[in-house]
Amino acid sequence: MSRKALVAYATRLGSTIEVAETVGAVLCQADVFVDVRLAQDVTGLDEYVAVVLGSAIRDGKWLPEAVHFLKRHQKALAVRPLALFVVSMTMAQDTPENRETVLGYLEPVLGDLPDLKPVDIGLFAGEIDAARLGYFARRAVHKLGAPPGDFRDWDTIRNWAARISPLLLSATPGKPPRGASGE
Ligand SMILES: Cc1cc2nc3c(=O)[nH]c(=O)nc-3n(C[C@H](O)[C@H](O)[C@H](O)COP(=O)(O)O)c2cc1C
Repeated sequence: MSRKALVAYATRLGSTIEVAETVGAVLCQADVFVDVRLAQDVTGLDEYVAVVLGSAIRDGKWLPEAVHFLKRHQKALAVRPLALFVVSMTMAQDTPENRETVLGYLEPVLGDLPDLKPVDIGLFAGEIDAARLGYFARRAVHKLGAPPGDFRDWDTIRNWAARISPLLLSATPGKPPRGASGE
């Protein structure tokens, strides 16, 4: 039987989509089919052997769709390998303090869901396109002290995905070889 993994994501301005797609592309190299989907569009996890969920941060929090995804699917997630990632401007500077801050954003979420034991949590720098921000978003970003620009580091993202791939996918047989019957 072929395996399928899910990369679900939550975004406001789109930069997390390409992060999710990059993670999905790397997982594909491990002999697994991968769906990359908006978290709120996912209705069930039965078809997936492993799940990655990523979200942008807004105002010190994971986006509500990502939190809702974890709550809604918590039973299924408790019995599947799960990895999480966070996209934030705090990680534009990768320091131990900033890592702690970003992990702190997840604490209230994971604290409420003790059955979920992520195999890893990726912490990635995101993107701020100042031209796309309205007045209040601009003020929030200004308060944050985050510099505008694209700080996504594709090597860091790809390396993380390659590292978690065996943690997520080592348990079950892979997709059939190209040309195998039934494809
Ligand atoms: C209004 C606003 C609030 C934000 N708040 C935070 C924050 O509290 N902490 C942080 O590290 N990054 C914060 N960010 C940065 C975003 O997490 C980052 O830009 C991310 O790449 C956005 O992802 P998206 O384009 O997928 O929505 C904020 C960005 C905006 C526009």
